[in-house]
Amino acid sequence: MLETLKSPSAMQQWSQKKHSEGKTIGFVPTMGALHRGHISLIEASKQENDLTVVSIFVNPAQFSAGEDFEKYPRDFDGDFKKLEQTDIDALFLPQASDMYGDGFATFIEVRGISGKLCGAYRAGHFTGVATVVAKLFNTIMPERAYFGLKDYQQCVVIRKMAADLNMPVSLRFCETVREQDGLAMSSRNAYLSADQRHDAPILYRALCEAGSLISGGQLLKFTDAATLIQQILKSSAHISEIQYGSVYDSETLDDISEQDAASYSGKTVTLAIAVKIGSTRLIDNLLVTVP
Ligand code: PAF
Repeated sequence: MLETLKSPSAMQQWSQKKHSEGKTIGFVPTMGALHRGHISLIEASKQENDLTVVSIFVNPAQFSAGEDFEKYPRDFDGDFKKLEQTDIDALFLPQASDMYGDGFATFIEVRGISGKLCGAYRAGHFTGVATVVAKLFNTIMPERAYFGLKDYQQCVVIRKMAADLNMPVSLRFCETVREQDGLAMSSRNAYLSADQRHDAPILYRALCEAGSLISGGQLLKFTDAATLIQQILKSSAHISEIQYGSVYDSETLDDISEQDAASYSGKTVTLAIAVKIGSTRLIDNLLVTVP
């Protein structure tokens, strides 16, 4: 039976005991509605650590007013069955009141990068993410923690937080897991109607076509790649809003579509997209090495 810990203090005691026995802990934070992307993170953790802990917590602090906190997919029974099959060592399952008690007043703000890309459309989102991830790290005290590259900006924010605050954890950023037609796995895919779902792989197609332009080595500037992304997204019958879609510096997340490709030769740039299909917000990205 999968060991489930509900309070932060019980979780901390569990981790302290395992560390005193000389065990290493790998940690996979999630908001539940588990899919193959999450399972791949769990598999990666199991390969590198003696023990693997998964958390399920739909973090209210990372949803702004009017977002989908209330309707975010929750499937605890399904998640529990999946976790039992993966043979992890512990599940951390706190309530919001355990994580944010009365008078909670401490937030972590990773300045600069948190306001770009998704941060420009989701006020306070990355402060909510950084705060809960710091709390989870302090509670589980893992040697290693695993995040999906699908949320590329989240990875950059967490990397910066961990470096700036000297957090004693190694971060592992793992490849995006995709459906057969290229759509990045996401719990929010469940919101799509059949027609919208049929159209959704257009994000990955735009990224791949623009990525090929860059890796082909013929571009003077990245402008053509950014324009191609926009053209492909605009051809969709179901995309109701393009929030961003361009070529970005992988560290600063600045839009570099006007920059000379030669200045990035040998480096990796990030193609990233955020759109709304109906009312569902989807993001995706592709890392491309410039020849
Ligand atoms: O990527 C997610 O599911 C969440 O942002 C995370 C890292 C679990 C923090 O709530």
